[in-house]
Amino acid sequence: MARVELEKVAKVYPGGVRAVDSIDLSIADREFIVLVGPSGCGKSTTLRMVAGLEEISEGTIRIGDRVVNNIPPKDRDIAMVFQNYALYPHMSVYKNMAFGLKLRGFPKAEIDKRVREAAKILDITHLLDRKPKALSGGQRQRVAVGRAIVREPAAFLFDEPLSNLDAKLRVTTRAEIKRLHQRLKTTTIYVTHDQEEAMTLGDRIVVMKDGVIQQADSSLKTYQHPANRFVAGFIGMPPMNFFDGMIKQEGGRLFFEEGVLEDATVVQQRHDEPQVKQGRLTLPGNGFKLIVPDHLTDALGRHVGRHVVLGIRPEHFHLQPIPGVGPATTVQMVVNVIEPLGNDMDLYLSTPHHPHVISRVEAQSGVSPGTQISLYVDLPKVHFFEPGVTGMNLSLSHEPSHAVA
Ligand SMILES: Nc1ncnc2c1ncn2[C@@H]1O[C@H](COP(=O)(O)OP(=O)(O)O)[C@@H](O)[C@H]1O
Ligand SMILES: [Mg+2]
Repeated sequence: MARVELEKVAKVYPGGVRAVDSIDLSIADREFIVLVGPSGCGKSTTLRMVAGLEEISEGTIRIGDRVVNNIPPKDRDIAMVFQNYALYPHMSVYKNMAFGLKLRGFPKAEIDKRVREAAKILDITHLLDRKPKALSGGQRQRVAVGRAIVREPAAFLFDEPLSNLDAKLRVTTRAEIKRLHQRLKTTTIYVTHDQEEAMTLGDRIVVMKDGVIQQADSSLKTYQHPANRFVAGFIGMPPMNFFDGMIKQEGGRLFFEEGVLEDATVVQQRHDEPQVKQGRLTLPGNGFKLIVPDHLTDALGRHVGRHVVLGIRPEHFHLQPIPGVGPATTVQMVVNVIEPLGNDMDLYLSTPHHPHVISRVEAQSGVSPGTQISLYVDLPKVHFFEPGVTGMNLSLSHEPSHAVA
């Protein structure tokens, strides 16, 4: 077992793509950490550098107390499971799991002990004599994990190991991987583009964008206190709603007034990243107004008259008043589409300036498309951001802005 440390690690591919941009990350012994982000953000590259499958352009990687920059993959004491777990088709499950140990010259009895133990943990003992083609996708994936376990490595690296499984199997296999970690406690780095998988698995999740770490915190902290607009929009499903507007002071109170972006352009983003518009903010006067919650008046007092972005998660709109949340907390919206989900329903709504708002509320009758409704906002849970794709979360910073020395 071991801690894994990345210090100012960067990867520049031939041709100049800076896939990983000077990241610092310290993974504790026994920790389960998930690297998550849209495709192309540098997750696999990071993992492959830890594995030794990709050369490091800058920085230092340590596994345990050893700098491994120049140590070949086979000597790094780590085991990796990929999306495309290539099992040897002509070998039984037993032999597939034993193969790596045999290559390393382990005694037969030790190999047998480890294979049987791993098979027991993964509940595949009854499959040991089968060939891979006689297994389901989920069973094959377990054999691939078994092959990693028998090595008893200092760390496990997983690169999107569930991507080839169907939705249902993904959820159950995900739970198995978590249980496996609770049992073995091996330091694990797990890569996925799926924010839900990241949230459910990791002790900590590391959100990446364009080769840069945006935030590294527990699931709950990342969800409740996203560091910036990108993290806020990427973590949580359906995604957070963002409203451009301005902070105003009226009668000694701070308000947010919804505005509109003139000459707005969509900032070019990858298809699986939240789309962000940029432009000059104007206030036509018919946007909604929302009072700034008390705990944020200090932080936002410095932004009076400035463009900010209000973030409200779909689940923080309600059809009924919220006990303990004061007046002026409703927003009028037009219901466009209703999607029943059983216990909940998703409402697709629009405000005067925002045609695509989503709220997730408890299912109830009496809401119909084409009508206007008042939604109550759970004010203590809203966020304000600086404009821009990675605009800082102003709700987190209560200190004055950094003085220039
Ligand atoms: N072998 C390579 N040569 C050049 N560019 C690469 C190579 N591998 C990945 N890249 C680029 O590096 C960036 C990060 O890729 P990758 O680490 O695979 O992202 P992720 O796993 O997050 O989807 C992407 O822009 C990708 O196109
Ligand atoms: Mg990848």
